[in-house]
Amino acid sequence: MYKKLILGDPIDTEAILCEVPAETTESSFTGVEKSVSFLKDFTICRKGLETKPAKENTREACTADEPTGEIILTRTLRGRELVYGLGETLRGINKRGWIYVSNNADDPNHTEDKRSLYASQNFLLLFGDGAAQALFVDVPGKVTFDVGYSELKTLEIRIASADAALYYAESEDPLLLIREFRSLIGRSYQPPQWAFGFGQSRWGYKTAADIREVADRYAEAGIPLSMIYLDIDYMDHYKDFTIDEKAFPDFPDFVAEMKERGIRLIPIIDAGVKMEKGYPVYEEGVKGDFFCKKEDGTDLVAAVWPGRVHFPDFLKKETRDWFGEKYRFLTEQGIEGFWNDMNEPAIFYTEDHLREVFEELDRFKEMEEMDIWSFFAFQDLTGSINNRPEDYRTFFHEYKGQRLRHDQVHNLYGYYMTRAAGEKLRDLVPGGEYLLFSRASYVGMHRYGGIWTGDNKSWWSHLLLNLQQLPALNMCGFLFCGADTGGFGGDCTEDLMLRWLAVSIFTPLFRNHAALGTRNQELYRFEQTDTFRNLIRLRYALIPYLYDTFTRAAEENDLIFTPLALAYPSDERARTVEDQLLVGEALMIAPVYTQNAAGRYVYLPEDMTLYRFRSVTDYDVIPLTAGDHYVSLATSEVAIYVRPGYSLEVSGEEFSITAN
Ligand code: GLC
Repeated sequence: MYKKLILGDPIDTEAILCEVPAETTESSFTGVEKSVSFLKDFTICRKGLETKPAKENTREACTADEPTGEIILTRTLRGRELVYGLGETLRGINKRGWIYVSNNADDPNHTEDKRSLYASQNFLLLFGDGAAQALFVDVPGKVTFDVGYSELKTLEIRIASADAALYYAESEDPLLLIREFRSLIGRSYQPPQWAFGFGQSRWGYKTAADIREVADRYAEAGIPLSMIYLDIDYMDHYKDFTIDEKAFPDFPDFVAEMKERGIRLIPIIDAGVKMEKGYPVYEEGVKGDFFCKKEDGTDLVAAVWPGRVHFPDFLKKETRDWFGEKYRFLTEQGIEGFWNDMNEPAIFYTEDHLREVFEELDRFKEMEEMDIWSFFAFQDLTGSINNRPEDYRTFFHEYKGQRLRHDQVHNLYGYYMTRAAGEKLRDLVPGGEYLLFSRASYVGMHRYGGIWTGDNKSWWSHLLLNLQQLPALNMCGFLFCGADTGGFGGDCTEDLMLRWLAVSIFTPLFRNHAALGTRNQELYRFEQTDTFRNLIRLRYALIPYLYDTFTRAAEENDLIFTPLALAYPSDERARTVEDQLLVGEALMIAPVYTQNAAGRYVYLPEDMTLYRFRSVTDYDVIPLTAGDHYVSLATSEVAIYVRPGYSLEVSGEEFSITAN
């Protein structure tokens, strides 16, 4: 049973839906270290407030300064303890040994040294040495999780605010802690079954002819395809809820034509609304007072794809109702699914800061030469004008009657944009059967849509990362998720795509997506068309199992992807396995994620049957005993390990996977 500790006056994020008993009345203390009885192993220190007179600590009084108060939670990590959770982050399934910052970031370079990605999902699970403990830090601003990074055996959580809601539970059974947490945050979004099909996307499809070509070439290759995604070029000058009519004449007819061919079009919606006289969305937004304001009460001017934009204040209910209703423009033309993007929000620059940059540059112009320091200053000035923390402190939201500075609620922005869409799409799309996923997220958003994990690269390491992110996302309620298959940035090779498909055919969201300027990576571009066809058909054969597993996980607050350490708690070896997962109750996957490998070592915690598929109808069945095995696996093959007590039958083009 979870209990909560309220410190100060935290912002209600609506991540938690149920009433949770507050364990303690010691709701406010400052400047001292404290042990709170139910947060047994943690010490809590609440700092910073005592230096300021009480009045200045109200949220309304905040200015563009750095945040003042801070809460620090510290706990000794037990020797053999594993730390799981934190949703979409870098590094492995076990988070020990690195530092993670919840601060939704538009950063396309997901290298190992990074601390933040697009999402903040502050749920931690500590288990494997004594009773398991779970903690949810429900704070929508910046939170830093130092999981044995500064000191090997110390977990330190720094909350950049004096106000926090903490939810904590303890149990012998870590899976129970996950299930109970999920029951507090509400049922996960579930898309219609067609959304489990395969989707093709690319930033760079500009016209209906481009889209038709993709559909035609998939059809010619005999590779099934259920969705084509429309990236920003379908819009008129990147204006939300518009269509470039030259590039897409008779859009509703085009949508219908595609649907007849079994392909749904899924357009992107960006957070920023272009400032342009006569553009109804902009005009209505200004008139309705729907945009984020600066301190002086004027609308923030930032820039993203369309040039200068205003950001809808999604935290305000009226804005959500208005913006959500705008999706009607596309649903009325037959659209049933969307992806919400740039909603950290991504900022190329703000108008105010750009002015300062130009003023500074004038000073540089006057210099005879730049020395090392002025050169660095010049680089900083021009090279980092996007996504600046300072800019995130210059605008405000209206939330539940309070005026809140953006940085204090930064991690809610994508959540509330997607909530705006989800709440309306339930009515706008026939039968409420809508597809929706977002880039930025926070716990709570999982009730309205799924996520994709943003701008990864065509790197082997990102294939492994894709696998490792899945269980943590599930723990935080995000069941409908997946990565850009083949990698977004960089150039994808044929073998990487094949190996990546062997993972992605198991993820609920299954989309091949690539960035403008990268090598073409539609599956028909590669040489081994037959192999690609076989792999995609395997996905379709798996859909009944995946959909059932998804539905059960949503109903029963379970994981789809379970790490072996949670599934086999008394198995010493299973504790350290970071590259194999259970998929539902019946299957295990252990993919190859290195270049030029002919197979890999696989650890089986129990006897399993290996099905090595070359196609739905061409496969080997190999019983394996518990222990270590080297399994040969060509790039044209997919290995599925069936657990004891289950059987896999192939009937026609479908698998039926059942308990014996
Ligand atoms: C962002 C998205 C990416 C998209 C691009 C253009 O980088 O993450 O998926 O293709 O914007 O819209």
